Amino acid sequence: MSEQMLKKENSIGVFDSGVGGVGVLKELVQLLPNENYIYFGDSLHAPYGEKTPEQVLGLVDDVVKHLLSQNVKAILIACNTATSVAAETLRRRYPDIPIIGMEPALKCAVSAERRNRVLVMATPVTLHLDKYLALQHRLEDRADFIPVECPGLAKRIEEANLDGEDLKEMLRARLLPYRGRVDNVVLGCTHYPFVRSLVREIIGDVPILDGTHGTVLQVARVLSEKGLLNPQEKPGTILFESSKATAEELNIYRALYDLYEV
Ligand code: DGL
Repeated sequence: MSEQMLKKENSIGVFDSGVGGVGVLKELVQLLPNENYIYFGDSLHAPYGEKTPEQVLGLVDDVVKHLLSQNVKAILIACNTATSVAAETLRRRYPDIPIIGMEPALKCAVSAERRNRVLVMATPVTLHLDKYLALQHRLEDRADFIPVECPGLAKRIEEANLDGEDLKEMLRARLLPYRGRVDNVVLGCTHYPFVRSLVREIIGDVPILDGTHGTVLQVARVLSEKGLLNPQEKPGTILFESSKATAEELNIYRALYDLYEV
């Protein structure tokens, strides 16, 4: 496919390992309401963050092929883990399609006035790969970063029961040691904004940041530069798809979409 064949009317493909990217989608729809969207959650294979990078790359490539088969005009990887593993490879493999990724919002956590202590929550894969390590390294002279791996958390959020005592316990075990000892928290996985209020309860009243806003602005910028913004003047459509392919799963996506606060 050549870039000339990308049409303004075509959908934007957005994907994540599961439900996490639904929040990113909602912010994108708020910014670009007249676009059409296909959201794909790979819930059958979630979590990505505890697999090997090779496994994640294989899964992500399948998702991208699936989206391309539906003629999407751009792809947003609404997943930090998939971006860390696959964004560069995908851009080389599919050079004609704009591919926008995400990274933990470390830059937003750094202050010009003081040396912040920044707690970074993300998946084990994200925190171990060079992309994250290089980002942290670039900012290390201006802040102290405390990366905290959260294995199990994305999988638990996939269940969409966000009130369970087990979920609170999982977060307490990871975060309580840092209460009163950090200046802000970065949610470096798109699943985690769904437990933002629980994180705040445990860690205390500090800014809790994520990369969603910057990412959706980047999508708008790229589409505008490439002349690919949809000119239609009515609200676009959203098609939810899941590798689990059950009505129940799609209802979870829709419910979390409604619940997510922009
Ligand atoms: N939502 C994904 C992210 O932003 C990861 C969740 C998972 O482990 O599948 O990193």
